[in-house]
Amino acid sequence: MYVLGLWDGHDAGAALIRDGEIVYAANEERFTKRKLEANFPYRSIQAALDYAEVKPHEIDNVAFTTTEFAKTLWRVFPGIRESYYQFRRRRMLKPSFEGLRHDIKYMTTTVGILPACGAISRSVISRSLNRMGFRGYKLHVVEHHTAHAATAAFTSPFGRQLVITCDGLGDGVSATVNTFDDGKLIRHITIGARDSLGIFYEQATNIVGMREMEDEGKLMAMADYSYPFDFEDNALKHFFSATGTIIRARYGPLKQFRMLQRIAWKTPREQFSYFVQQLFENILTKFVSNSVDRFNIHDVAFAGGVFSNIKANMMVRNLDALRHWYIFPHMGDGGIALGSALYTNYMLTGKSKYAFSAYLGDSFDESETEHAFKGERSVTVQRESAAEQAAHAAELISKGNYVFWCQGRMEFGPRALGDRSILAPSSSEEVKERLNIRVKKREWFQPFAPSMLEEDVGSMLEYDGKGVDKYMTMAYMVKEEMRDITKAAMHIDGSARAQMVGAENPQYMDLLKHIKRHSGSGVVLNTSFNIHGLPIVRTPQDALETMKATKTKYMFINGLFVTNKAGA
Ligand SMILES: [Fe+2]
Repeated sequence: MYVLGLWDGHDAGAALIRDGEIVYAANEERFTKRKLEANFPYRSIQAALDYAEVKPHEIDNVAFTTTEFAKTLWRVFPGIRESYYQFRRRRMLKPSFEGLRHDIKYMTTTVGILPACGAISRSVISRSLNRMGFRGYKLHVVEHHTAHAATAAFTSPFGRQLVITCDGLGDGVSATVNTFDDGKLIRHITIGARDSLGIFYEQATNIVGMREMEDEGKLMAMADYSYPFDFEDNALKHFFSATGTIIRARYGPLKQFRMLQRIAWKTPREQFSYFVQQLFENILTKFVSNSVDRFNIHDVAFAGGVFSNIKANMMVRNLDALRHWYIFPHMGDGGIALGSALYTNYMLTGKSKYAFSAYLGDSFDESETEHAFKGERSVTVQRESAAEQAAHAAELISKGNYVFWCQGRMEFGPRALGDRSILAPSSSEEVKERLNIRVKKREWFQPFAPSMLEEDVGSMLEYDGKGVDKYMTMAYMVKEEMRDITKAAMHIDGSARAQMVGAENPQYMDLLKHIKRHSGSGVVLNTSFNIHGLPIVRTPQDALETMKATKTKYMFINGLFVTNKAGA
């Protein structure tokens, strides 16, 4: 039995479950090359079908999510969605009516689900599916936060658990608290869109001149460049309160935006960012802590875009009330195509536990990769075994080079986890600089992150063992004596968003072991394999183009060692 999940909003995508196993998941941006693509996911659906070698008419069940008023409006009038996408991504100048557009966005998105929305959304989605050749399938609708909750609950390592979702908004909701016990997922608490911590953060990001729904991580990084303030002196402290398991925003989204603007106007940017982050952490930790106390369940799984804030996640992790944590790696809306499929499969078959791996996308074997490089005169190509690739890449990194590393199945989610990565020595500020100038062009305050051997985590990080972080979902403080080794992959405050690598990715683990032989520590700087502003590469062709465009010298890709003749 097949269940196809799809999501046609911000960071659209598709996921496929076959007989209770997740076989494929990917996001549309990797195909259209438009970061955080927000259209019907034709190409990721097709890729999922191709991967599983099935035809559209063989799919029994299709699930989609979110039938709120604004989403339905966007489905009917895709031009509105496209112009917002172009504006948000700075592909067009700010329109003169931007203030009005902003107000209309928050007025419509907070409305929630109206009576006809479900039927209209169904009909638009069916039309697109039918165009692809889908026939005789059953179409299921999954509520937005239920889809988020399903990703966390059904892929976590826990049996009995608390499941907390928190995002901007979806279907009129911004946060939920659920219990999962004895195979049953039950929602107990719902926080409405008006009281959204995610909208608060999104608006603050917009106000400091960054891209909302994309650059929130930059605002978070900027906050650490401020002088610290006591919470009592936080100019935004009255914007939110958390009492018990209720989050309350003082103002509705429109007034909140204006009040934030007023304070930002007279506050230095990094200080404003500090206020935002501090309030956000304060409210989120209270909400999580109170929820844990109320339900007396101490293993907690999280999903929703709010949990992409790695610094707030660190504060949550440090709560005494938390025994174990798990954050679904594709926590934002990019993960809810899979959530819709998981929840639908749960309703149909009762299955509520999956062996989850983030390596769910496309892969290319050696001959397909070789074919992509055929006739390419600007590079030389040499075959190497998987073991040789790991040893050779480690040697080049240890000698002060950065390398492109593209192996196996593409990761599902925002992070490169050693299958579509750029790797560099974690201790070299000079290589980090070169990487930034040539490829990544990050803002000066944005840090890189490290991958490290699971066996070395205890000696490198302040680590409490509450969860093994396979997916770079949290910040950890690097031990004082290790900061020299990780200085190029660490934030100004000594924290690092570490990936803890073990047997789930044997070749990458092997590479780290070779690095350890060279330098004494199994750690490397790992950043996603993409050019600034573009999504992560998917195919060998994408990888080759990136190599040429950035004049990068070395690439290890599916059993091939590629050298760029023009590289330096
Ligand atoms: Fe969401």
